[in-house]
Amino acid sequence: MILAFNGSPRLKGNTATMLQAALDGAASEGAETRLIHLRSLNYKGCVSCFSCKLKKGRHGHCAMKDDLSPILDMMEEADALLFGSPIYYGDVTPEMLALEHRFLFSHMLYNKENRWVFPRKIPSAFIYTFGVTADQAEAVLAPFANVHGRMGEMLGVKSDVCYSANAWQFSDYSLYEADRYDPAAKKKYHEEVFPEDCRKAFEMGRRLASTKA
Ligand SMILES: Cc1cc2nc3c(=O)[nH]c(=O)nc-3n(C[C@H](O)[C@H](O)[C@H](O)COP(=O)(O)O)c2cc1C
Repeated sequence: MILAFNGSPRLKGNTATMLQAALDGAASEGAETRLIHLRSLNYKGCVSCFSCKLKKGRHGHCAMKDDLSPILDMMEEADALLFGSPIYYGDVTPEMLALEHRFLFSHMLYNKENRWVFPRKIPSAFIYTFGVTADQAEAVLAPFANVHGRMGEMLGVKSDVCYSANAWQFSDYSLYEADRYDPAAKKKYHEEVFPEDCRKAFEMGRRLASTKA
């Protein structure tokens, strides 16, 4: 099962569309897939209880009990993981950040060796969508190298990444205070470039399903 997480509160927005394209790619390779919308779950970020690091504790297990608990258990069994988030003020959404923190931190020990306690090797991938133009993508994505690196280390396979820039945010730009954007140019970009971004996500989904750890 390939598990995908939509960090956007919009269930049919840019991120959800890119995620679905990636899952379609994975399904074309015969993978079973599931998309989970984080907004429909009630949970908090890591509370720094350190239960996951107790010598006599359950390593690789987050002790918090909320809607994320069964999801974290499912992640333990998944064949691959896909994380999708819009960029909000230079970061992923709070929902995605809380998931990433709890997943990573509960599988990490403060030991010099055997630092990560994830039981298997599985591939992972990240999808980002954002409003600024593609020429700024490198700067937008640079802060996430840390989380990608750690996720790859923990899961034993380097993570894959793709993105879509210059996001189409409203269906009718004339209704909003947004005159910094040219609606015709936005529409053209959405019609011509976004499908290409989705095609790249589809290919990433295929890779995710066919990567052998
Ligand atoms: C609260 C908020 C903050 C945002 N901050 C940024 C930002 O810092 N940089 C950026 O390029 N886009 C920013 N955006 C635009 C979104 O990243 C963009 O519209 C994204 O594609 C939304 O994804 P969705 O359609 O899946 O919800 C922001 C949007 C919102 C709602």
